[in-house]
Amino acid sequence: MSYTFYKLLHLSSLFVILLSLGAIASHRLQGGTKENFKNRKFFSALHGIALLVTFVAGFGLIAKAGYTFQSGWVWGKLAAWLIVGMYPLFFYKKGNTKLPYIILIALLFVTIYLVEYKPF
Ligand code: HEM
Repeated sequence: MSYTFYKLLHLSSLFVILLSLGAIASHRLQGGTKENFKNRKFFSALHGIALLVTFVAGFGLIAKAGYTFQSGWVWGKLAAWLIVGMYPLFFYKKGNTKLPYIILIALLFVTIYLVEYKPF
């Protein structure tokens, strides 16, 4: 698989992650709970599968571009991926406040800053 194809998979699966988090978020902001979320299984499955594709494609990109785990930005991205992976739990716990949304926006900003500038 080419570098470009891995990036296609990486970015499109990231959009699916954000879509599923958005669905959970809007349900929570309307006062919905984990228990009365009719489409919970569907969006959890979307989130899980997209998380896996983001991860595998991310490693594909690392291999194709010849990056190594010496680069701190790669670890930063792995940490961001783990946090995004656990985010539905955060939404179900704290989703009726604005905090999780502000943190997610900041996290995504920092993650994309890391991959664009590779500061360390
Ligand atoms: C929340 C998690 C993540 C976000 C938001 C994210 C975002 C992005 C974005 C937007 C790009 C495209 C950059 C560009 O085209 O200029 C990218 C590329 C890349 N990502 Fe991720 N990513 C995430 C997780 C990961 C993970 C877990 C890995 C490694 C396992 C990874 C490895 C890479 C690599 C190697 C590139 C290519 C960088 C380059 O060639 O310049 N990413 N990522």
